[in-house]
Amino acid sequence: MLQLSSPILTNECLHGAYHRLTIDLGDLAKAARPGQFVQVQIPQLEGHILRRPFSICDVNGTVMTLVYKTVGAGTEALAQASPGTPLNILGPLGHGFAELPSDRPCCLLGGGYGCAAMLFCAHWTVARGNPAPLVLLGARSQADILLEEEFRRIGCQVGISTDDGSYGMPGRITALLETELKRHPDAWLAACGPKPMLKAVSFMAEQFSVTHCQVSLDEIMCCGVGACFGCVIKCKTPDTPQGWSYRRSCADGPVFESTEVCWE
Ligand SMILES: Cc1cc2nc3c(=O)[nH]c(=O)nc-3n(C[C@H](O)[C@H](O)[C@H](O)COP(=O)(O)OP(=O)(O)OC[C@H]3O[C@@H](n4cnc5c(N)ncnc54)[C@H](O)[C@@H]3O)c2cc1C
Ligand code: FES
Repeated sequence: MLQLSSPILTNECLHGAYHRLTIDLGDLAKAARPGQFVQVQIPQLEGHILRRPFSICDVNGTVMTLVYKTVGAGTEALAQASPGTPLNILGPLGHGFAELPSDRPCCLLGGGYGCAAMLFCAHWTVARGNPAPLVLLGARSQADILLEEEFRRIGCQVGISTDDGSYGMPGRITALLETELKRHPDAWLAACGPKPMLKAVSFMAEQFSVTHCQVSLDEIMCCGVGACFGCVIKCKTPDTPQGWSYRRSCADGPVFESTEVCWE
């Protein structure tokens, strides 16, 4: 884990509330693995709010890309930061996704801004000469579908669903997943998105007896480094009297096996 300050290279609006930021982070970027995240100190608000966590969306050389949605004071302020503004970053943090295997079909699922983490995962896999995974993107509406072209550019087949039917298949991402699992019940799954989506993906994986399904949970975080226990989730722990224990999503995750999470 490193902490460093570096000037923002670019910070552009993709569309609506979604933004893409690039920054040269030297060794911090080189150490990053798919599924890990960084804690960003928000310029102008250093004394007022905690650092904000963002998935690493991609790394090219030493340049890291983050994709974020403006939802509150921190992300609104980040969107106002001009190129050249120094950004203090802590990372890479957490445990990421396992390497995707080359000998079986792999399917990555991204819900809303959860697709940011999945782009790095897909890019990492393709850059190592492995087959491009199938990517399923789901969102409420067309305006919330992100990075489709970026996935296609690296050779991924992309399936899309929207709740309101404004783009792709109308309905939930799990309908696309069901079709895929009927074709390839041995598929290797990795997902990032809102908790209800991850829960549904996890249940479907269980229903199809999928042997490998990892999910990345975006719990609200404080320290981001395992010290405050502000981000705990319940995980199945058979050797405890109650059968579960708390695990810190920042330090023990954010990626967990879908079967170890107590979905409530
Ligand atoms: C490991 C991890 C990876 C993340 N990756 C990304 C990413 O790649 N792109 C992105 O846009 N966002 C990502 N998030 C969520 C992002 O951290 C929050 O949206 C951000 O911290 C909100 O800060 P704010 O000050 O703008 O909003 P706040 O004023 O703090 O909150 C505004 C609203 O956002 C909600 N919110 C705050 N934190 C989270 C969270 N962690 N998950 C869901 N809702 C939240 C609050 O409940 C509230 O309703 C990630 C979160 C985690 C834990
Ligand atoms: S956010 Fe502090 S322990 Fe996870």
